[in-house]
Amino acid sequence: MNPIKIAENIYWVGAIDWDVRDFHGYSTNRGSTYNAFLIMGEKITLIDTVKKSMKADLIARISEIVDPGKIDYIVVNHVEMDHSGSLPDMVELIKPEKIFCSTMGQKALIQHFHREDWPYEVVVPGQDLDLGGKTLAFMETRMLHWPDSMFTYVKEDKILFSSDAFGMHLGTSERFDDQIDPSILMEELTKYYANILTLYSPLVKKLIAKIKESGLEIKMIAPDHGVVWRSNPMMAIDAYDRWSRNEGKGNAMIIYDTMWHSTELMAKEVANGLQDEGISVKLYNLRYNHRSDVMKEVLDASAIILGCPTLNNGLLPRMAGFLMYMRGLRPTNKIGAAFGSFGWSGEAVKLLNEAMTEMKFDLIDDGIKVKYVPETSDLANCAALGHKIGQALKAKK
Ligand code: FEO
Repeated sequence: MNPIKIAENIYWVGAIDWDVRDFHGYSTNRGSTYNAFLIMGEKITLIDTVKKSMKADLIARISEIVDPGKIDYIVVNHVEMDHSGSLPDMVELIKPEKIFCSTMGQKALIQHFHREDWPYEVVVPGQDLDLGGKTLAFMETRMLHWPDSMFTYVKEDKILFSSDAFGMHLGTSERFDDQIDPSILMEELTKYYANILTLYSPLVKKLIAKIKESGLEIKMIAPDHGVVWRSNPMMAIDAYDRWSRNEGKGNAMIIYDTMWHSTELMAKEVANGLQDEGISVKLYNLRYNHRSDVMKEVLDASAIILGCPTLNNGLLPRMAGFLMYMRGLRPTNKIGAAFGSFGWSGEAVKLLNEAMTEMKFDLIDDGIKVKYVPETSDLANCAALGHKIGQALKAKK
């Protein structure tokens, strides 16, 4: 259980979760890590902890460096249980002199663990904390992605401990960005932003602007999940900057479910129309694609076309669930359209349109409904819808 040195007197002491595959509804196909860091200043400081079930890993790694009982301070950047689950046991073991957290962090810690007697110290952004050899500064990042979230910065080493921000669910024995295939890094960084942060894009945009305007020098970003960005932290910052602007890449996505293949036939014809217009398009059948993988693609898509047949006057359950999920994440600046087959009542297209209107998508068509099984003219209409969307996308560029 070796700790990993990330800078002089600063170590990764977290845990690797090879097995996690579901993170409150987000599929974590490559597992994850819960990163915690130990700063060996004159005041020895632990930044964040790990999920309760992985406490032994944290203690073992710390113990390779120092007796955990010698730790003076704990910094809690974020209270969600994947980072604080082992905190009560660690507080018991360490008996820290102080627990540093944000104002909302103190409230959330008390609401989680019901310990008013812990030695909380609310940090003051802009005020330094001298550990003796290392100096910490704090930045409140409220609602990124919890009310309590904050960053901690080590001035001497220019390391930003960024909590969930700039992180990814990636279980790996490697600890640094330059040890991982860049395409995997970008895939998991994208998936994390899409499923955790899309909703907060306006705040991300302000935060990135604030970081850039402040001239804060960032040599390394150490998030609470995945790898430490030691070689290319700007890759993560620039990606967040881009996503927070919701610009889209000019491509289209068709997200659908189907009962007896009629809606599937329609989806493929819409895709043909888009391709004929030279638009890059991807089809996602919700039966085979997890909602969190679909959301990863929604992040950069410029057109979202939803297809669903009518079931019991409503939507198929997978589409209803996906819509609930997507609505919560509030992607913006999308062109939208809907289609679907029906037998007798035919409400699905109307419901899809209503959901997209609520999300402020730019609906460019009333949508296409087909009774039972599409005939040639219906499929031609679907292709025409693809052309129409393609032309709208080109006009938007
Ligand atoms: Fe990784 Fe919001 O917890």
